[in-house]
Order: sequence, then structure tokens, then C-alpha cells
Amino acid sequence: MTIGYAPGKVILFGEHAVVYGRPAIAVPVTQVQAQAEVEDAEKGQGITIVARDLGQTYKLNEAPPDDALRAIVVSTLRRIKVGLEHDLTITISSSIPVARGLGSGAAVSTAIVRALVGHFDKWLDSRAISDLVFETEKIHHGTPSGIDNTVIAFQKPVYFVRGERMEIFWVQHPFLLAIADTGVQSPTKVAVEDVRRGWEEDPVKYEGLFDDIGTIADMGRRAIEQGDIEAMGRLMDENQRLLRLLKVSSPELEGLIGAARQGGALGAKLSGAGRGGNMIALVTRETCSQVSMMLRLAGAKDVIVTEVS
Ligand code: MEV
Repeated sequence: MTIGYAPGKVILFGEHAVVYGRPAIAVPVTQVQAQAEVEDAEKGQGITIVARDLGQTYKLNEAPPDDALRAIVVSTLRRIKVGLEHDLTITISSSIPVARGLGSGAAVSTAIVRALVGHFDKWLDSRAISDLVFETEKIHHGTPSGIDNTVIAFQKPVYFVRGERMEIFWVQHPFLLAIADTGVQSPTKVAVEDVRRGWEEDPVKYEGLFDDIGTIADMGRRAIEQGDIEAMGRLMDENQRLLRLLKVSSPELEGLIGAARQGGALGAKLSGAGRGGNMIALVTRETCSQVSMMLRLAGAKDVIVTEVS
């Protein structure tokens, strides 16, 4: 049996604007992960997909073409030049909550690619894995920027500009993030489509907001590279103000963001598509437990603390 793993992710700066060509910054979150196991099945069984968390088991050749799991299996096998006639069982499980901004779809796909590549003794570099996963991201998200598959495949902090640049950058001083879950599922596709509608109705306003968010992402990178944690916190707050104007925040997110600030976080914002899902708060070793407690009291369904380094 071969096992492939992939972490979750959070976006520190620049979500939504990144779909429109502005820079964004994302980091992997290793406390949550997706896992795919590949094992040989009995002859004549074909390829079976077991999505353990969803309680679903199905044959690859019976799944519809827009099934994201089927799509990543087929494209990976094609990429590594392995025929579809093999008898395999692919079992998927994940501790990354679905549709909460933590990249669960991209992580599951990445874990599958890694497990299949390992099972057939092949090799693909992070770029090739990211490119394969990007194709299935289109099934999940419609018009993904590509940041989720990139940060998850490379497993490093990334500075990303859609279709142009991907840079792994230097974190001067490791820092702590508290990641809190509103418990509200929010499919990325829906939030991205709503922002697109807003942009179509008022392109001048939205382009201005995207520019401001892009500037924050650039300043955020500099602050991280210089280890200026106060500046990072201020930029997170400013990014959140702009995300509110894009109408992707929600009462649940605002409740958690307010609680984090009250608990002493240096900055806080939604992360990912918004509307629900997770928020992130910049904390220190001193404020970490107080902020986590405040987040739970304010209704967070889960709080993860992760170190970014
Ligand atoms: C999703 O993690 C981030 C968004 O910017 C969408 C995307 O970049 O594809 C909302």
C-alpha cells in the first residue's frame, strides 16, 4: 500500500483580488491533512474510489466526468503514463474541514497524485503536481487563481501572482496564527461568483479595491521578510476592511474577528473565500491561549494554532 499526504492552507493576504491578477500570500497548515491510500485490488475489479469521510464507494468508470476525484485519478495516471486498466483501490480521508477556506479540495487531489505517483514508482516535482491539481480545482471552483494548489504542492509560504509568478519567500521570525472555524460551510465557487458579479456591475470600484488588496499583499510580504509582526497585524486588519467592502465577510466571521482582537491578537481577518469558513488571528506566545479562549467563547467550532516558519 502507498500513502500520499497533503496539508491544508490559509491565505494571509490577497484572497479574491488574486483571481484578478493581484499578488497574494498563502502558507501551508500541517496540523490538518488529507490522506490517500492506493493498494492493488483483485484482478478484474478496476479502479475503486473510497471517499471515507463522505461514506461513498464507487467505481472510477461509473463516476460522471465532472467528478473531481475521478478527474484527478485519470489525469495523474495519464501524466505518469499508466493505463486505466489497473486494478486499484484508492481510499481518501481528510481532517481538513470541507468548504471552510483551508484548501480541502486541493489537498485531497494532491494526496491522490502523490499516492499514485509513489505506487507506480514514478516521480513528479511540485510544479507538475500543482499543475495537475489546478485542472481539478476548476471543477471545484470555476475560476481558481491557482494559489491553493501551489501552496499545498510546494508546502512552503508562497507569494503568488496568477499565471505569472510563484516565489517561496523567507520568513524572518516564525510567527503564530490562531485559525478559527465559524462552522459555516461556504463553497469558494459561490463567493468568487458573487465577487465577479460585483466587479461586472462596478468595475472601477472593484478594480480599486483589488489594487489596494494587492498593495497590502506586497507590504505583507515585506513585513514577514523583515519580521515586523506589528506591521503584519495592521495589514491583516486593513485587508479585512477591504474584504468587507467586497462583501465577503459575514456576521459569524466578524464575531470571531472582534473576539480575537479583544483577546489581544495583533490583527485578524477572514481567510479564503469568506462568507463563512475560517478566520485567522495573529498571536504571540503570550496572547495565544487568551485569544483561543475568546474565539471559543465567541462560538468558534474549532481553533488550531499553527507556527509559520
Ligand atoms: C480561495 O482559497 C481563495 C480565493 O482567492 C479563490 C482563488 O484564489 O482561487 C477566494
